[in-house]
Amino acid sequence: MEPSLILQRNPDRSASSVDQRGWPGDDTAGGNGRAPADTRRPVLVLNDVTKTYPNGRDALKDVDLVVPEGDFVFLVGASGAGKSTLMKLLIRDELATIGSVILDGDDLSRLSRRKVPIVRRKIGIVFQDFKLLPSKTVRENIAFALEVTGTPRRKIRPAVERVLKLVGLTAQAEQYPHQLSGGEQQRTAIARALVHDPRIVIADEPTGNLDPLISWEILQLLLRINELGVTVLMATHDSDLVTALRKRVVALEEGRIIRDEVGGGYHRAG
Ligand SMILES: Nc1ncnc2c1ncn2[C@@H]1O[C@H](COP(=O)(O)OP(=O)(O)OP(=O)(O)O)[C@@H](O)[C@H]1O
Ligand SMILES: [Mg+2]
Repeated sequence: MEPSLILQRNPDRSASSVDQRGWPGDDTAGGNGRAPADTRRPVLVLNDVTKTYPNGRDALKDVDLVVPEGDFVFLVGASGAGKSTLMKLLIRDELATIGSVILDGDDLSRLSRRKVPIVRRKIGIVFQDFKLLPSKTVRENIAFALEVTGTPRRKIRPAVERVLKLVGLTAQAEQYPHQLSGGEQQRTAIARALVHDPRIVIADEPTGNLDPLISWEILQLLLRINELGVTVLMATHDSDLVTALRKRVVALEEGRIIRDEVGGGYHRAG
């Protein structure tokens, strides 16, 4: 099947109100010899974000980040650097203490109650420990993500079939999580993250519980999803994967971005 038919992109997406604040290149339009501005629209913008937990801990400090549509970004850094905190801000599990987090044009700290679930559906999330419901089959786990948002039954079945096919789990659809390998469980979680047709998939150490070969397979799947047009942000400690792929790498250290470069390795070169 043609990839574009698997994930049906919403043709009207360009019409939403995009907040251009913090977009790099705003100051480069005057032909000053710098590289041309990236004209892809930003899916995610963090403007000078600080997150202080109630105990006084600054988990993120003065973070500026722009992720344009279609990017594949590795988020790296030592344990405690703030990777999961950044992801929690994106799913609105936590709110920024200072600064703004803008997802697809919407400031997450200023959403009306009505808009929260709408914006939340623009993100698919994948965790290290899969977080599948043990009493539901693969198909039911994926379908449940749509049922809870009130999607009509007639729309659920084709959407679930589509993502099952995409992750290669059609044959395992009636199995329960305990009957699956770790890699298959993670593919189920990825299918669940995709079933809403999100703008961005965020994965917090998705290969952390998997052996190297299976980790590589999961990464290939995320790359394929990215090729279909979904922006991907992946936190990882897996230096081999990061260094091998030469994608954009954003490195955090004690809550600050210390490096943001395309084609970087896990560690700073030189
Ligand atoms: N709910 C919380 N309350 C207080 N401090 C927290 C909370 N959550 C995280 N922190 C602290 O914020 C800092 C960043 O934590 P975070 O979980 O974002 O790091 P991480 O980069 O994801 O680490 P790891 O690689 O171990 O998953 C750490 O110092 C952590 O102890
Ligand atoms: Mg973490």
